[in-house]
Amino acid sequence: MRANVPVIADEAGLEDFMSAPSERVVERVGAIKGDIVILGVAGKVGVTLAMMLAKAVKKAGTSSKVYGVSRFSDPKAKEHLAIFGVRPLGVDLLDPAQVAALPGSENVFFLAGKKFGTVGAQDLTWATNTIAPANAAQRYKGARIVAYSTGCVYDFKTAASGGALELEDPNPTGEYAQSTLGRERVFEYYSRKDGTRVCQFRLNYAIDLRYGVLRDIADRVYSGQAVDLSVGSLNCIWQGDVLERTVLSLDLCESPAKAINITGPETASIRWLAEEFGRRFGKAPCFSGNEKPDSKAYLANAAKSFALFGYPAISLETMIDMTAVWVASGGSSLGKPTHFEQTDGKY
Ligand SMILES: NC(=O)c1ccc[n+]([C@@H]2O[C@H](COP(=O)([O-])OP(=O)(O)OC[C@H]3O[C@@H](n4cnc5c(N)ncnc54)[C@H](OP(=O)(O)O)[C@@H]3O)[C@@H](O)[C@H]2O)c1
Repeated sequence: MRANVPVIADEAGLEDFMSAPSERVVERVGAIKGDIVILGVAGKVGVTLAMMLAKAVKKAGTSSKVYGVSRFSDPKAKEHLAIFGVRPLGVDLLDPAQVAALPGSENVFFLAGKKFGTVGAQDLTWATNTIAPANAAQRYKGARIVAYSTGCVYDFKTAASGGALELEDPNPTGEYAQSTLGRERVFEYYSRKDGTRVCQFRLNYAIDLRYGVLRDIADRVYSGQAVDLSVGSLNCIWQGDVLERTVLSLDLCESPAKAINITGPETASIRWLAEEFGRRFGKAPCFSGNEKPDSKAYLANAAKSFALFGYPAISLETMIDMTAVWVASGGSSLGKPTHFEQTDGKY
């Protein structure tokens, strides 16, 4: 392995590495007056975002409190966050009375959502992805809200297209993706109505060693299962870079709401990724699916984000190296595959 690849010993080390605030994050968080609220904190991204914000407040030497809001379906997340100085609040965002009682804030991050388990419970997906945003937007009227969204609001794209751009009309496939466009439209409505400044943070595949598209591909290569090539290629970005961009996106919040694509610079071939893992594991990958030069996938063009924030700090090659070491050494998994190979919109 290359000498400059970060060595991550365990989950605590991984979260610590991802949530280390950069100087510009400390500076931005230091400029915040008042408290910070993260809605939907208990998920794959939210816990590390809360950790980064709490560390940045400490480093900046300011007194902002960081509140982390979720139902805490997994109670361990609550204890875990409290250790880092985050104030966990067990609230159901679908209940307007509970949301109305949340602490005030001028700086809000909205990460709540539902994707997997949509088939058979479409109503709950729609409620989570539209009613919770409506409750949040009404409670935090006039604030800045970085509202997580997804590249799934776009149509599928060929690699040759260069990926979906923020200015094109959304065209989501399936009820999960349609409901995430609903989430955006709800925030857009309240942004226009109340002057609330919103950034629609359209993320494509965050990479954490415990989950993500690289973990999915690495697991298959390592265990000798076939890697499906039908979507051809993908975009991804290190979760630590996602977190930094999340905080810096406070400055992109506007009324009316604006969207930004957040992913890595490469349109990475899935065959190439599997072969890279194969080389590191000493195993030849096997493949399935119909690989076509004009296959379509969720591909986004994040050029605008690179102009604003620079390129991600962690390169794709480094993510591959770190994931390979993690998988080969039995590193933990969240057991939440991304289903990157699916294009039917049914999750
Ligand atoms: N991770 C990625 O690579 C990725 C890619 C594209 C887009 N996104 C978007 O980014 C957002 C965050 O991603 P994620 O991976 O962290 O999602 P996640 O793991 O599903 O986390 C979302 C969290 O929202 C909370 N939540 C759901 N319904 C709630 C409710 N009614 N009240 C309070 N909290 C509620 C849940 O915690 P409780 O069950 O404890 O309430 C859940 O842990 C998602 O909305 C997703 O659309 C993520």
